[in-house]
Amino acid sequence: MTELFLRCAELYIKSLTFQNYRNLKNSELIPSKGINLICGDNAQGKTNLIECIWLFTGGRSFRGAKDSELISFDKESSKIQVCFYAFGREQNIEIHIKNNRRTATLNDVPKNYISQIIGKFCAVIFSPNHLSLIKSGPEERRNFIDSAICQIKPSYPSLLTKYRRVLNERNALLKDIPKHRELEDTLDIWNERLAQEGALIFCERINYIKKLSEYTAVFYSGISSGKEKINISYKNGYNSDIKMSIEEVKENMLNVLRQKQSDDIYRGFTSSGIHRDDLGVKIDSRNAKSFGSQGQQRSAVLALKLAEAAVLGDEKGEKPIILLDDVLSELDSSRQSYLLNKLDSRQVFITCCESNISCENKILFINNGNIIS
Ligand SMILES: Nc1ncnc2c1ncn2[C@@H]1O[C@H](COP(=O)(O)OP(=O)(O)O)[C@@H](O)[C@H]1O
Ligand SMILES: [Mg+2]
Repeated sequence: MTELFLRCAELYIKSLTFQNYRNLKNSELIPSKGINLICGDNAQGKTNLIECIWLFTGGRSFRGAKDSELISFDKESSKIQVCFYAFGREQNIEIHIKNNRRTATLNDVPKNYISQIIGKFCAVIFSPNHLSLIKSGPEERRNFIDSAICQIKPSYPSLLTKYRRVLNERNALLKDIPKHRELEDTLDIWNERLAQEGALIFCERINYIKKLSEYTAVFYSGISSGKEKINISYKNGYNSDIKMSIEEVKENMLNVLRQKQSDDIYRGFTSSGIHRDDLGVKIDSRNAKSFGSQGQQRSAVLALKLAEAAVLGDEKGEKPIILLDDVLSELDSSRQSYLLNKLDSRQVFITCCESNISCENKILFINNGNIIS
């Protein structure tokens, strides 16, 4: 396991301070460089602490909270600071939350937009909400893949935007055709464009999924003590695979668009393309969504998230911090033990309700927002 991460440098939090953040009492926290267990009863502030760390990535709250909800109930503003080691040097980020807005300072330089700190402090988060990655429909899985690629390939978001624009044009045309039959002749231009843009996205996704699936298999095998096998695949409706060139993929997409053209006109939307694809997740050759137990589904999401972190680490040359909220429940003791003992080559924060978990890691107790380390 350790050798999976050797190519990456270290990224870790040296200290963390918060003022008026949710229910957390103003203080400074010095975590361990390895695994940090955050223990406490329900509603004491464990998820709040994980959420606070996540904000330094530049992303929004993973709970979908508004910025104003992050400020302690009776206060007007909040300030959180992290001092961390990354890319070979000590760095810092400060985030101010006021008037339902977040502003940031990176290494003491104020930034105009919070998005300017993205990529400086890398983390991957697992929370029970992420179980939807297995339980929900394909859209969740496409979003997972797309946002993971966005983190490593700055030009990818614009590919998605272009594709969506062409897709909207084609869909608008499909709706107009029944009223203006002559418009059907112009549809093939949009078929061409959609296939052109779609093929570029397909190639990015399939290459990413290949790397992701290799790591996911290693992590899943570790979590299940080698007893179960996971298989990740890119399911697409135009018979394309990783061995094909962009031109071949485009050709395949175009053929399917043309074949389904009459159906699409009847329905008024485009029924094939990268916007309909899916990430297939099988455990021991069976669909994880339909047949996986709660523990297996949780293990699968966890393996995917750890794999996301590993690929991100390879691409960035820096191992992201791992944030695991409420992951231990519903996992048997050997799966728990894997998380508590085998991820030690990086900084990890794991929340749990039990205080008698036996491990050698640093334990932070949280009681009513007070952190005792
Ligand atoms: N803006 C806020 N100001 C003060 N307390 C808050 C705020 N938002 C949430 N809380 C409190 O934080 C507690 C929940 O913390 P949380 O981290 O979710 O608990 P857990 O330890 O179960 O993960 C609740 O008691 C809630 O009232
Ligand atoms: Mg919680």
